[in-house]
Amino acid sequence: MRKKIVAGNWKMHKTATDARALITPLLKANIDPAKTSVVLMPPFIYLSEFSAMPHNPGISLGAQHSFYEKEGAYTGEISAYMLQSLGVTHCLVGHSERRKYFNELDIICLEKVKALMEQKITPVLCVGEELEVREAGTHFDHVKTQLLPVLTTLKPTEITKLVIAYEPVWAIGTGKTASVQQAAEMHAHIRRMFAVQFDVNIASQVHILYGGSVNENNAKELMNAGDIDGVLVGGASLKSDVFLKIIEAAG
Ligand code: PGA
Repeated sequence: MRKKIVAGNWKMHKTATDARALITPLLKANIDPAKTSVVLMPPFIYLSEFSAMPHNPGISLGAQHSFYEKEGAYTGEISAYMLQSLGVTHCLVGHSERRKYFNELDIICLEKVKALMEQKITPVLCVGEELEVREAGTHFDHVKTQLLPVLTTLKPTEITKLVIAYEPVWAIGTGKTASVQQAAEMHAHIRRMFAVQFDVNIASQVHILYGGSVNENNAKELMNAGDIDGVLVGGASLKSDVFLKIIEAAG
């Protein structure tokens, strides 16, 4: 059975003091690590301090971005190699905001995925369509195009370690969640792509998360749908009491 993953993407929020206040109650949460894996993705600058805090077996640290080169003269960048030295276990790749503001193309996402896997960090590859694409009815093809580079490059042993996050761009930060049916049919479509490229057994091991205006009220219903293996939460991960309710909904 696939474990539920609840990831909190803090994006570019919180001062150092506020970040500490947010993580402290979360670290005390009672989480069964056999059933749920919680991943906190704060801004880079807090990772070092957080990695030295008391360990909660149900919680691990993730990053929001990484560069695909290992080290070198790349001012301002952080590599997977550096992240693993802090014990970071997950890293977002191709979040729609990175695609939009930093021109993160599918081919760059593939390089990032490979670099993360080399360091044994789980890439959380984000895919999803803009509103115009959904309205044009081409959302399934759009997501397929975003996934093809990894599907056709990674080996079966690597592909099972990949986490996919389906985040319809029109649902991110807008308060508009995809309906459970819209999310579930896209998740089934994604899993089918893995089954066609590899086989059903491999496809059944891939975690597919939903993201886009997830909150404490809709998390349970979304996670109860068969192919939805967890949630990637933005805004609702910035308040510990709200995020704790979402973690509870996974249990
Ligand atoms: P949101 O963001 O929950 O604020 O919609 C989700 C995300 O961007 O990962």
